[in-house]
Amino acid sequence: MSETFKNYIDGQWVEARTAKTFENRNPADHHDLIGVFPVSGAEEVLQAVQAAKNAFARWRLVPAPKRGEILYRVGDLLRKHKEEIAQGMTREMGKILKETRGDVQEGIDTAFYVSGEGRRLFGQTTPSELPDKFAMSVRAPIGVCALITPWNFPMAIPTWKMFPALLCGNTVVFKPAEDTPHTAVKLVEILTEAGVPPGVVNLIHGRGEEAGAALVRHPDVQLVSFTGSAAVGREIASVCGQNLKRVSLELGGKNAQIVMEDADLSLALEGVLWGAFGTTGQRCTATSRLILHRDIKQRLTELLVARTEKIKIGDGLDESTEMGPLINQAAREKVHRYVQIGKAEGARLLIGGAILDEGKWANGYFYRPTIFDQVTPSMRIAQEEIFGPVLSIIEVKSFEQAIDVLNSTAYGLSSSIYTRDVGRAFRAMRDIEAGITYVNGPTIGAEVHLPFGGVKDTGNGHREAGTTVYDIFSEWKSIYVDYSGKLQKAQIDNAE
Ligand code: UN1
Repeated sequence: MSETFKNYIDGQWVEARTAKTFENRNPADHHDLIGVFPVSGAEEVLQAVQAAKNAFARWRLVPAPKRGEILYRVGDLLRKHKEEIAQGMTREMGKILKETRGDVQEGIDTAFYVSGEGRRLFGQTTPSELPDKFAMSVRAPIGVCALITPWNFPMAIPTWKMFPALLCGNTVVFKPAEDTPHTAVKLVEILTEAGVPPGVVNLIHGRGEEAGAALVRHPDVQLVSFTGSAAVGREIASVCGQNLKRVSLELGGKNAQIVMEDADLSLALEGVLWGAFGTTGQRCTATSRLILHRDIKQRLTELLVARTEKIKIGDGLDESTEMGPLINQAAREKVHRYVQIGKAEGARLLIGGAILDEGKWANGYFYRPTIFDQVTPSMRIAQEEIFGPVLSIIEVKSFEQAIDVLNSTAYGLSSSIYTRDVGRAFRAMRDIEAGITYVNGPTIGAEVHLPFGGVKDTGNGHREAGTTVYDIFSEWKSIYVDYSGKLQKAQIDNAE
């Protein structure tokens, strides 16, 4: 008997009215059923948004430091349950334990970082141009926020959105990805235990096309925060545009690591292995292009292939596994399709390019780590997001060409350069078109107290994390207090 899970609305775990359900299975072993979840529809969305709207009237008046204290308790509870959540996340999502522990840790870091913001959330005071008048700006909450989150970081990404949203005084309806609903349940249980009042956080399981679409369209949803594909992001943005809703989008990437001829090659090698094959390549920040200076290309490529051959693939719950499965069958098919595209385009397959479905891999969505050589910048495998363990090597002759190639995609999330030349490092920091640049580090590994997001088609100009996330989840209100006792006209009474 598998467990049946429910939605969480207005402080209660409730059955969805719909009889439809979906199964959540372990991607390393699809015989392992984690649970059955409701396919929510418009009706559940209505209830959840109404609950969030009612709760907003009270939650927005709770002092921000108090809201911060609740989030601090959330951080403590996440820490207490870290191992259990990580184990559950590996079973549900497939990435190895080391990484799921990191994912939970990112939620803990966010909780503690955001909780402190309850005692800051600074506005500005500034002199008025008129006498006996006071001028200031404060951050005001927005209302009901819809949070639509992906499966690759089932804890970190929801917490990046939810904790700042709550700290600012908003209430939320949370629609996690269908592939990782169980981690979402764990998070909501912890929020409840920490004292988040009923209606402040509501959880709706279901599909993007149904529950997600109904949420985005609901007139009482004031803001949509979405992380996922560029195609879905465009649809959400156009609905939000029509309705003048606030919308923050975190979309695709086609991140590259440059290695110059003066780089520390063993460092660059460790970096690309982690950046390309960590999380089975399923990070928005994953390294999918490796731009190599021709003088070191052959040497680094040989080292890379030799190491890639040894990557231990398997069930992430086994501590010795280095790379887990892809998230589901469709993801594996997509990766394999891109491998065929790469071959047809004339790239040279150095290693991998194959589905693993025998022996211990028979019941999961495993794929061999894959490297293509002789990739040119305009090939589809060098332009489109694959979201799997596929790396494309592009050779360049100079630093300038390396930067041009790195910039030659529609996306601009993360980037990396390995060089010992400080001048090149600074030119790269200036000239790379990306929201994140690493020097002598891989394209993954963002910390929660710096802005996270990208340029070009990676998003719509917002930055999560850091202090910039509060610009997403609050609106500025400018306040003037006139204590002169008379009507004073700005721009007129004080004119020369
Ligand atoms: C993502 O790539 O989907 O920087 C999020 C990193 C993580 C977050 C990644 N801290 O790789």
